Amino acid sequence: MTTQEAHPKTGVTELKFPAGFVWGAATSAYQIEGATATDGRGPSIWDTFVRQPGRVVNGDTADVAVDHYHRYRDDVRLMADLGLTAYRFSVSWPRIQPAGHGPVNQAGLDFYRRLVDELLEKGIEPWITLYHWDLPQPLEDAGGWPERDTAQRFADFAALVHDALGDRVRNFSTVNEPWCAAFLGYASGEHAPGRREPAAAVRAAHHLLLGHGLAVQAIRAQNPNTRIGGCVNLYAISPASDSEADLDAARRIDGLQNRFFLDAMLKGEYPADVLEDLRSVCEPDHIRPGDLETIATPFDLLLINYYSRFTVSGVSGGAASASAAPTGAGSPWVGSEHVSFVNGGRPVTAMGWEIDTDGLLEILLRLVKEYPPIPLVISENGAAFDDVVTGDGAVHDSERLAFIASHLRACHEAISKGVPLKGYFAWSLLDNFEWAWGYGKRFGLVYVDYETQERILKDSALWYAETIRRNGLSL
Ligand code: NOJ
Repeated sequence: MTTQEAHPKTGVTELKFPAGFVWGAATSAYQIEGATATDGRGPSIWDTFVRQPGRVVNGDTADVAVDHYHRYRDDVRLMADLGLTAYRFSVSWPRIQPAGHGPVNQAGLDFYRRLVDELLEKGIEPWITLYHWDLPQPLEDAGGWPERDTAQRFADFAALVHDALGDRVRNFSTVNEPWCAAFLGYASGEHAPGRREPAAAVRAAHHLLLGHGLAVQAIRAQNPNTRIGGCVNLYAISPASDSEADLDAARRIDGLQNRFFLDAMLKGEYPADVLEDLRSVCEPDHIRPGDLETIATPFDLLLINYYSRFTVSGVSGGAASASAAPTGAGSPWVGSEHVSFVNGGRPVTAMGWEIDTDGLLEILLRLVKEYPPIPLVISENGAAFDDVVTGDGAVHDSERLAFIASHLRACHEAISKGVPLKGYFAWSLLDNFEWAWGYGKRFGLVYVDYETQERILKDSALWYAETIRRNGLSL
């Protein structure tokens, strides 16, 4: 139950979260670990991609990143200082199974055993993401996610990791943001593997979903008590006007971004209108009988990554407000390339993403209304801003603090309206390698000096720690 209470000393109204609300921060392996050629790790598609000229701003690579592979003990100590009750991180597939199938690299697996033990010792619940975009390169060489076999390879990997760590880790999630992995990786080419093949992207989306379903089944078979999450990145979508063209643009973008994944995972069907939109790009002959039943295998938690709202128009030529890729990429909006993203007139983050807390509330209420009941977790929410270390050695990131506070207020309101929201993970614990944007975009609660690897708690981190301690925030 949520409550509103007066603070005993200040008298300010406080929004209290339900007891047991999960307070976390999130990262992913490739973005923080570094040590990409250490202890038997194999190459991933991102190691290949970052070496291709023009793919990543400044030619940044994640070879070192924030050196978490070597500094994980210090980083866990930071998490404990913040009072996090949970930490969401991903395991690197090429570190654990360099070929993407077959033999395990024991040293790679041992790293995650040590990390998990360290977290447990500090009373922080590990939440493992099994796939956060670092496909082993040999699997891409065999065709990557557009190939059906990759889904089975992923399920085998999920079973392997769960078998090794499932005795100590209760929370696993499958694929992080399948929309990005499919459409940024294989259609727009702004993410690894950098392919611009719309039909392949559509097949990749299906196989990422199939991999999710097969992984749920594999984990369930090992231990019915493991809590399994499926993760999607959802956007609030508005049409630029009530014109037929703009309404249709909103339907299409909502369809490909949100409903395609939600309907498949939670209802066992693809939305008919989206399949129709995609027909011009790719006949759906890769969808086999039984696939949607597999994809909709019941799981325990829907993990939602929320950042922004898109305002869209069916008339091309609007000013882009969604961040454009740093390099000249194609469109990820397969079948809807004529749609333009227009400025919705809201303040933006350093990514150019519009800040819209109402969008979060809208999405949460919509999930309850339109989908079968399932507990929800915000698995990512946060913002990049141009942080600077000031003369006092601190990082006064008031904009990030306000961003997180306002989204938490939206979470509180959602819970008070009956949304079964169980937790919140800030993205990100640490500044890190922001994919095609390299190190230029800082999302961390903790600032990282990339030269010295020094960590500095930003004001937002100190505020978040206090929020966790009070299990609530002021109105
Ligand atoms: C979503 C992704 O999961 C994460 O890797 C990324 O850094 C953030 N969004 C911010 O773009």
